[in-house]
Amino acid sequence: MLTKKDIVDLVLKDKNKSPVQEIVSAYAPSNIALCKYWGKRDEVLNLPVTSSLSVSLANKGTTTVVKCHDAQHDEIILNSNPVDLDSQFGKRLVSYLDLFRQNNETFLIETSSNIPVAAGFASSASGYAALAEALNILYDWQLDSSSLSILARLGSGSACRSLWHGFVEWHKGEREDGMDCNATPIEKTWLNLCVGLLVLSPEEKPMSSREAMKLSKASSCYYDAWPKKSADDMKLLHKAIDNSDFELLGQTAESNALAMHATMITASPSVCYWQPETVAAMHEVWALRKEGVPVYFTEDAGPNLKLLFEAKDADQVMSRFPAMEVVMPFEGV
Ligand code: PMV
Repeated sequence: MLTKKDIVDLVLKDKNKSPVQEIVSAYAPSNIALCKYWGKRDEVLNLPVTSSLSVSLANKGTTTVVKCHDAQHDEIILNSNPVDLDSQFGKRLVSYLDLFRQNNETFLIETSSNIPVAAGFASSASGYAALAEALNILYDWQLDSSSLSILARLGSGSACRSLWHGFVEWHKGEREDGMDCNATPIEKTWLNLCVGLLVLSPEEKPMSSREAMKLSKASSCYYDAWPKKSADDMKLLHKAIDNSDFELLGQTAESNALAMHATMITASPSVCYWQPETVAAMHEVWALRKEGVPVYFTEDAGPNLKLLFEAKDADQVMSRFPAMEVVMPFEGV
């Protein structure tokens, strides 16, 4: 069984071993999957059962400052608050840093996200992507973004898609060591595409996506259907992106999210991230669509929805969802 450290050694084999800078900073956008990552073929290395495809959220994401310091322990500050190193968040981050320290160096990590943490807005994705980018600068590894995506994946699977703006594909790969399991950007600009962030319940999610996908894979009678559904949706999304076909993009993303949630709802025990507000918002989206407005939703491991629509329909969508924050993934990036 390969460990994360084995993979880090493979990626960094002839790279610089000591930090060359004292303090560095990196930003990574959050990303929203239109074809989801749901289920692992390797639990340790975060190798997925299926490929996935996302769109990044431009200026919504995480900025991480990494400083080498001479303290006994790492120090972590999240959104201006010190993090307990024994908390789940702290332990996970420290064990990620352990993969890279060469001479017992310790770090001060100051990370700030402008998206809700652990509410299905992919804050861990942008967090681990920003950290991998910052370490790349700190140690001067000079890795290209696709190699860096392998390191980001070891922190959080979906983090490997947060190394770029725009559409990104994460290739599932076949190899046991996952060296072919990286992400690459899709060359496409879709200027009038909008993503609406609908915070329906800002509470932390009851179960991590890691646990929920494991349970779905192990116990849902529908999980066997997931790889085929995912492969079909991937083809449709590529077609939609190539042809700038918004309705195909929206329909496919919504159907893919519902299929993913079907594997959770039918897991044992059932995992349902939907709150009454989630279901009410889904019905609003469907009602608006019946009225002729092309708007679709996607949902991750949390109760909140992300709406997909085009700029020409923004006023109508916003009048139905006044609290929604709108991101234009391709504007100004
Ligand atoms: O990368 P993780 O372990 O946070 O898993 C992300 C899972 C989903 O957000 C539900 C789907 C996805 O592809 O982002």
